[in-house]
Amino acid sequence: MATIFIRNEERRIENQEQVASFLADQGVLYEHWDTTKLPKELQGKCSLTDEEKSQTLEVYDEEIRSLAERNGYQNWDVVALSESTPNLEDLLKKFEQVHTHTEDEVRAITAGHGIFIIKGAEDTGYFDVELEAGDVISVPVNTPHFFTLMDDRQVVAVRLFIETEGWVAHPFEDPEFQK
Ligand SMILES: [Fe+2]
Repeated sequence: MATIFIRNEERRIENQEQVASFLADQGVLYEHWDTTKLPKELQGKCSLTDEEKSQTLEVYDEEIRSLAERNGYQNWDVVALSESTPNLEDLLKKFEQVHTHTEDEVRAITAGHGIFIIKGAEDTGYFDVELEAGDVISVPVNTPHFFTLMDDRQVVAVRLFIETEGWVAHPFEDPEFQK
């Protein structure tokens, strides 16, 4: 289950109804996938072979197609990051820049944890969405954000996109943003 931290207010939201309603107000899709559908050996495993990545996509085929039908996604893949990822530090440095995309950014976490830092509508400022396995979110199109790892420094996520160009990151220089 996701939790929210609103940076300006130093306020955390953990109650799931409130998390869902906060994210709905921000136009962020928030759903859940059943992580027990994964074979036992893949549950919580973040260093994956190509075969295990394909297996993950097969397990969630129905959920993926449901999202794709509703929101027009054409392509999907699996990204796995862990200490065994070459150049993890460099990758994370690249990730941790506020940016936008010309389509929404969907992530379904199937193992590990991840955190989206998102610029909220109007006066909300930046808020963090801490995600665990089973959480599915979508950052709306043109919304400044970035994604990074949490303390366990590992994640597996299914990514869905409409077009590969839509996924290009456009840097967003924001004096308001402070790490
Ligand atoms: Fe992004």
